[in-house]
Amino acid sequence: MSHYHIKHLEEYYQVYRKSVRNPEIFWEEIAEEHFLWRKKWDKVLDWNFETPEIKWFEGAQLNITENCIDRHLATRGNKTALLFEPNDPTEAAQHITFQELSERVNKMANVLKAKGVTKGDRVCIYLPMIPELAVSVLACARIGAIHSVVFAGFSANALASRINDSDCKLVVTSDGSFRGEKTIDLKGIVDNALEDCPGIEAVLVVNRIASEVQMKDGMDHWLQPLLDEASAECQAEVMAAEDPLFILYTSGSTGKPKGIVHTTAGYMVYTAYTFKNIFQYRENDVFWCTADIGWITGHSYIVYGPLCNGATTVMFEGVPSYPDYGRFWDIVEKHKVTQFYTAPTAIRALAKEGVAHLQNRDLSSIKVLGSVGEPINEEAWHWYDDNVGKRKAPIVDTWWQTETGGIMISPIPFVTPTKPTYATLPFIGIQPALMDEQGEEIKGNQVDGRLCIKFPWPGMLRTIWRNHERFKDTYFSAYKGMYFTGDGALRDEVGYYRITGRVDDVIIVSGHNLGTAPIEDAINEHPAVSESAIVGFPHDIKGNALYGYVTLKDSGESRDHNNLRKEINQIITEQIGPIAKLEKIQFTNALPKTRSGKIMRRILRKIAQGEFDDLGDTSTLLNPEVVEEISKNAIV
Ligand code: WT7
Repeated sequence: MSHYHIKHLEEYYQVYRKSVRNPEIFWEEIAEEHFLWRKKWDKVLDWNFETPEIKWFEGAQLNITENCIDRHLATRGNKTALLFEPNDPTEAAQHITFQELSERVNKMANVLKAKGVTKGDRVCIYLPMIPELAVSVLACARIGAIHSVVFAGFSANALASRINDSDCKLVVTSDGSFRGEKTIDLKGIVDNALEDCPGIEAVLVVNRIASEVQMKDGMDHWLQPLLDEASAECQAEVMAAEDPLFILYTSGSTGKPKGIVHTTAGYMVYTAYTFKNIFQYRENDVFWCTADIGWITGHSYIVYGPLCNGATTVMFEGVPSYPDYGRFWDIVEKHKVTQFYTAPTAIRALAKEGVAHLQNRDLSSIKVLGSVGEPINEEAWHWYDDNVGKRKAPIVDTWWQTETGGIMISPIPFVTPTKPTYATLPFIGIQPALMDEQGEEIKGNQVDGRLCIKFPWPGMLRTIWRNHERFKDTYFSAYKGMYFTGDGALRDEVGYYRITGRVDDVIIVSGHNLGTAPIEDAINEHPAVSESAIVGFPHDIKGNALYGYVTLKDSGESRDHNNLRKEINQIITEQIGPIAKLEKIQFTNALPKTRSGKIMRRILRKIAQGEFDDLGDTSTLLNPEVVEEISKNAIV
């Protein structure tokens, strides 16, 4: 019998050892006993971290939607699959059963087919957190189309470049979205984006906010009338194990966003198995992950992981502050949420508002709390533990990445003793390694280094969309034969891991991964700007915020700096989105550079953090004198 559900620490160690000694046997048992296959595999694993090539369950055939929906219909047809909580608390919540979900997904799948979408085509989904988002994702998977969900906070430019990079054929969007008291004109953003997207053949539009939008003849279609006409039956496309399931873009430290490719069988097995154990999911639990489906957290732990386990999964359209900072707790009480999974930035924002919002709300349904997206600081951890979990609900600090598909390092609640700020132990099947700068593995405990993974796991990315070279360079070239995560970590005296943060030029702001290069490229488009450099600095709520150093083409004396700051942030908003706006912008005559012309970000980082006494050796710089100027004028 496989160990699908780990229940105590002894069992964890025993199963972990097995999963490392005999990964093929271990994962084969899990796959065999807990999923629905049209055909089983010929080989469990084929891998090479040099080329690199990774294949799990080769030869197998399946459709992930039969695992997420169809197989539950006989026993859970009337159980709530999606529990939709609207932005407006006075609008009724929707309890969408597995039976209803099946019908809605099939109808949507038939609409996509009627619009000419076939297996392997890319479909871009640009929707707010409404049921149609999950339905569209699953409808693509039903017919073997590759979904590319773009977070509906991204700008027209960012949307267009993602659509074009993966040659999407069709876009699913809505007239607009509700966010607290605001509405956002999504259709207008799509219209702008599509001016640069010649490959798009059709746009399907959900009517969410009943706003007036322009509908282009022959291109734009209201979705509802098409759904009304569509059949509620749609044969699932038979997919090969390694057929791509989706593309999801993530920022790199350089260049344009990377289209991370996940495939079908391994991703399914890994997200389902991690979900079951890391949230200790049991039948009749109500699971709520507050992420947006536009991020990997939503893909894996709102849609695929929960549904594959037949779970009820909450989708919340709104924001934590509307109508007030008690909204999360209202939802927990109203739907008797049992597992609550959110980000440190949200915890800090709520903590700042004080505990009054928690008083009078019954949170006793909560069994497990989760954290994801960035390191959780000790203060936030304790606030969460004391006030939300009342010290009875273990906190799972889950470390993972868009690339890893599912959670990699995390406690298993009621199994692994937790320790604030520590993601604790590797999950079953995960083999972490800490590396030094010479490329040697650092063995033993009480050490720190760069976090790598030594052996493939089923949920890992397989490539970067149409850029296998970049895939190899980014993840497999720094340390021979290993997957490099880009994070630093330490391992304590008992082998617990603590993630210390990025060691590359990615900055995590409010849990969002931002590459410095694309932001700098955007700033440099301003006609007055000559050069720029972005670094992160600690921020009470966002974790990190962005500090920009900008040099101007003329000395800039004559210009209104505050106006320039606004214009620069405006360009960033247009090119990337409001999440990438700079908190502080310092104009300077020059940037510190090495003799080979590389910007010395290390020094700029120290200055932004206010550590002026600790700038290190500046004598090797091409222009050491600018360091003093920058320090003197730093914005603190
Ligand atoms: C990066 C990946 C995984 C879903 C959300 C983010 C950081 C993520 C933790 C954590 C410390 C964390 C890492 C990682 N990160 N979770 N529990 N503790 N750091 O996915 O956008 O691909 O970002 O987020 O730096 O590399 P992502």
